Amino acid sequence: MFKIAVLISGSGSDLQSVIDAIDSGYIKAEIEAVISDKADAYGLERARNKNIKTWYIDKKQYGDDSSDEILNILKGKVDLIVLAGFLSILKGDIIKEFKDKIINIHPSLIPSFCGPRMYGLKVHQAAIDYGVKVSGCTVHFVDDGTDTGPIILQKTVPVYNEDTAETLQKRVLEQEHIALPEAVKLISESRVIIQNRKVVIVKADCC
Ligand code: GRF
Repeated sequence: MFKIAVLISGSGSDLQSVIDAIDSGYIKAEIEAVISDKADAYGLERARNKNIKTWYIDKKQYGDDSSDEILNILKGKVDLIVLAGFLSILKGDIIKEFKDKIINIHPSLIPSFCGPRMYGLKVHQAAIDYGVKVSGCTVHFVDDGTDTGPIILQKTVPVYNEDTAETLQKRVLEQEHIALPEAVKLISESRVIIQNRKVVIVKADCC
């Protein structure tokens, strides 16, 4: 069985979309671990409700070694690491050890409104302030930059004149809950190939 770890910092609605997609049979995989860098992240409770093993990585305790601690937990145990609203930046050996095996979801159309310190409502406020007419979300591989790895898929939403960061966030989040399970499914079925920095999706070999 394809094994996944999901890393979170908050409510975990993106995590829930993957849990639901596994429960419905859309994704054939198992969540081996949920790791949070926030002790009170509601996503931890979502995981415990499904009897998924959870860890809390206290950044005050581990500091710069947080990524190494995550690597210690996951090494040899999972096929894919999914960053689902995880606010810490992974660095060091875990990026090499899990090369092309870490994905992230970002709530904008990369390369717009992304990079260091671009998270949460700030992303949507920046999109509104710039005056874009469409926004969306991006699922991408994680490399040693911030939001710079190859793009797996993107979903778009319209941006309306009357939008606030909150209303836009809600519209984008609905698409995240479609995009993230879709990306995990494609990877678990070995249908995602990286050619230079372009991702090619291979057709399913059925039908
Ligand atoms: C999402 O907008 C995601 O794109 C961003 O953080 C949010 C996560 O929300 N990186 P949740 O904790 O999964 O509800």
